[in-house]
Amino acid sequence: MTFPNQRPRRLRTTPAMRRLTAETRLAPAELILPAFIREGLTEPNPITSMPGVVQHTTDTLKRAAAEAVELGLGGIMLFGIPETRDAEGSASLDPDGVLNKAIRDVRAEVGDDLVIMSDVCLDEFTDHGHCGVLDVDGYADNDRTVEIYARMAVAQADAGAHMLGPSGMMDGQIAAIRSALDEAGHLNTSVIAYAAKYASAFYGPFREAVDSQLKGDRRTYQMDAGNRTEAIREVELDLAEGADIIMVKPAMSYLDIVADVAAMSPVPVSAYQISGEYAMIEAAAANGWIDRRAAITESVLGIRRAGAHMVLTYWAAELAGWLQESR
Ligand code: PBG
Repeated sequence: MTFPNQRPRRLRTTPAMRRLTAETRLAPAELILPAFIREGLTEPNPITSMPGVVQHTTDTLKRAAAEAVELGLGGIMLFGIPETRDAEGSASLDPDGVLNKAIRDVRAEVGDDLVIMSDVCLDEFTDHGHCGVLDVDGYADNDRTVEIYARMAVAQADAGAHMLGPSGMMDGQIAAIRSALDEAGHLNTSVIAYAAKYASAFYGPFREAVDSQLKGDRRTYQMDAGNRTEAIREVELDLAEGADIIMVKPAMSYLDIVADVAAMSPVPVSAYQISGEYAMIEAAAANGWIDRRAAITESVLGIRRAGAHMVLTYWAAELAGWLQESR
């Protein structure tokens, strides 16, 4: 009888041994909570396809932000849902518009104790639901849209956002936003660039979350699911334009992209575990088909292991609570 002298299982014998040898750990500080606020609500409004996630009122959003601080989360990413929409998304520029007001309220609540991030994109504000204004052919007009993003960015920075998240995949958006911020004196307002954002079927529940008016898809501006090398091009452009943090989105179907980008990016890399990823796990867990807590933990661990330094996830608060418990 010969015995193998190489026994990797030795390091798996007890929970303490596994804890000692873990290569990847999760911490609340690397989790970012996306949150929705809807204008005119008096009660939080549950999002059916995202059980446990709501459209917030001002009060419940402020409470969620305060809780995020207590849990030690890294940040909160705010999305606003306005009462009225038009072709140009003009409510996005109103200093008292739903998102700008929410930024101000959250900043008053938590100050600098949490990184306040906000979505720079027109899809929540346009009556056609596209991420930009449309030209005569119905094509998202890149350059006109980027001009609006630059003004939106300044309005959000004026309102108190620490970090802006341009998510519309228009070319040159980071450079335009960066120079508008600098000209307005917002030298320290940073940019988390949705650099490699794919046209994904997994955004489905988000459309309900923001009452999206979109018919059709975003394939003329978001990336094709099969493209890998192109992600590097998008990231290099955003880095050259001044991105402070890079994002890959979605996360779970794009872990190779997360790994590629993490290997080349000199700035921190984030990944967004999106609405459909959340909905899938919640639905399977609700059916008793998977262990909910274990599946959530494994999914976020996988995104971190692939190379993301930080993860945007709708489970941020709950997961942080578990991490505090298990210490
Ligand atoms: C665009 C935006 C979207 C998401 C974040 N920002 C929707 C889209 O691109 O269609 C999706 C997030 C999610 O699905 O959780 N403002």
